[in-house]
This record gives sequence, C-alpha cells and structure tokens, in this order.
Amino acid sequence: MTAGTRTKPVWTRKHLLAIAELSREEIVHVLDTAVGFQEVSTRSVKKVPALRGRVVVLMFFEESTRTRMSFELAAQRLSADTVDFVEKMSSTSKGETLLDTARNIEAMGVDIMVLRHPAAGAAQHLAEHVSCCVVNAGDGQHAHPTQALLDLFTIRERKGRVEGLNVAIVGDVAHSRVARSDLRGLQTLGAKVTLVGPPTLAPKSFETMGVRVTSDFERILPEMDVINMLRIQKERMTASGFPSVREYIRLFGMNSDRLKHCKPDVLIMHPGPVNRGIELAADVADGPHSSILRQVTNGLAVRMAVLFLCQQAAAVE
Ligand code: CP
Repeated sequence: MTAGTRTKPVWTRKHLLAIAELSREEIVHVLDTAVGFQEVSTRSVKKVPALRGRVVVLMFFEESTRTRMSFELAAQRLSADTVDFVEKMSSTSKGETLLDTARNIEAMGVDIMVLRHPAAGAAQHLAEHVSCCVVNAGDGQHAHPTQALLDLFTIRERKGRVEGLNVAIVGDVAHSRVARSDLRGLQTLGAKVTLVGPPTLAPKSFETMGVRVTSDFERILPEMDVINMLRIQKERMTASGFPSVREYIRLFGMNSDRLKHCKPDVLIMHPGPVNRGIELAADVADGPHSSILRQVTNGLAVRMAVLFLCQQAAAVE
C-alpha cells in the first residue's frame, strides 16, 4: 500500500438482508469478526462497549426462541440499548402497516431494526424505506442470513474449513428459508451441497441452483461430512405434499442405525426447534455428533459481529 492510500473495508453494508448477496470475502469477514466476539461471552462481565449509546429494536412478527434471544443478548453484550416490539401489544392490530410502524419506531431514534416477518421480502421493503440499519431475522420462506452464517461458522469451527466438504440438507427444503440461505452460503464458500427429501419437499427444480437433489437418503450417507436436518414446518405446508409422519421418519429421519453408515466424524446439525423423534432421534440430537447447542452458542457471536459491522458501515456513510 502506498503511503496515504486506504484499503476499502471488506464490509460496507448497513443492512443484512440475504446471504445470497454476500461475497466469499464478506462471509469470511463476518465469521472472522465473530471469532473475536466469542470470547466476550466467556467473561464474568459479558460486555464490550462497541455499540454503547446505540438502540436496537427487535421486531418479531413470528414466534422465535433462538433468534430473538440471540439478537437481544448480542446487542446487550455490545452495550446497546434494546427495545422489544411486541406485535400483540402494538398498534398493528389497529391496522397500522409494517412501514408506518417502522417509521414511527425509527422516529424515536433507533439505530438497528432486527426484523422477523412471515412475508418474503419484508426486510428488503423495510430497508428501502427507513434510514437506520435493517437486519433480516427470517422472512417467510425467503432468507435467514444469520442462521446460515452461524451454521457456516459452526462447520468451519468443527471441520476447520467449509471448502470441499460434502454437505447434505435433509427434509423440508421447499418451505425452508434456512435451506435456501445455507445452500447459498455453502456454495459461496465452496462446499458441495446435496438436498435430500421426498420430491414434494425437495423438488428436482433445485438442481438449477447447482446442487444434487435426491430422495435416497441411505445412499448418500457414507459420502457426507455434514448432515443438516431441517425442521418439518407443519405451519407452512399443505397436508397433500407431506408423506405420513411414520413414512417420513422411516425414509428421512436420522437415527443411530443411519449414523452407523456415516463417516465416523460426521457432523449432525439442526437449526431448531427440533421435532424430536421426527427429524432426529433423541439419542442423535443429544449425541456426540450433534452440534445443535453449539450452533446456538455460536449464533450469539455471529449476531454480535453482524450488528457491529452493519452499525460500523452506517456510521461511515
Ligand atoms: N433457528 C431459528 O430460527 O429458531 P427460532 O425460530 O427459535 O428463532
């Protein structure tokens, strides 16, 4: 670098809307930033002043345990003030639109809006109409970028790399924002992705995205380094597209018998919430191959990184 010149920062986005828009370099930068934040959660005083004086509002229009609490704790560990928007107690029930609600909240001096919404594109819509940062915490069947980032973080942590790994995503791909986001993130980092499920839930049309699609779970087990079991989304599917639960468990459930056909160091993932006994047998969910709780722990550091980087980008705008 010549004296006086400055390198362009890797992260210049004040919004995080979908992982599909991130380059390899940007994803790696978030993961590396999260490594730095991991240590904060191990301190007796779990706080750094990175977002002191900033306000983060959590706007969740759908149920959530992991993502909501993780964003709230992430913001608090960065010393931000947090405000919980509770839909049922808000004026949306009186007919106020999402945009009017957001603009009114922004008028109170909010820096970052974290939005979960049942409509695909809701976070993008918000980002186009407010001037604060917008972070997508899951929009309909479209995207869940921080889940994908924490999944990539966990794979990299456990396997030492993402590039070149064989990763299966199993189950209800069609209705899953996690599947869409994980698939794009894994491809960007150079993993080989196989989608597994009945044709109604893992349609062949996904092959146009450069992935293998199969309904033969048994056959692909020995090849896989990582198997990510998706939640069956009863709330998003019509009964006609779903085999019986018993049939689903028989063909696509992960259990200790199937585990015997996997690589000895296979990593079993699940974004949560788990339908125990359906996607995963309890002994696998709680067993040594499972990274379910580690994913949740890592989510906190990843979300600290996302909030920090977006706010930093907004500050230099
Ligand atoms: N994985 C995930 O998004 O979980 P929640 O719905 O509990 O946030």
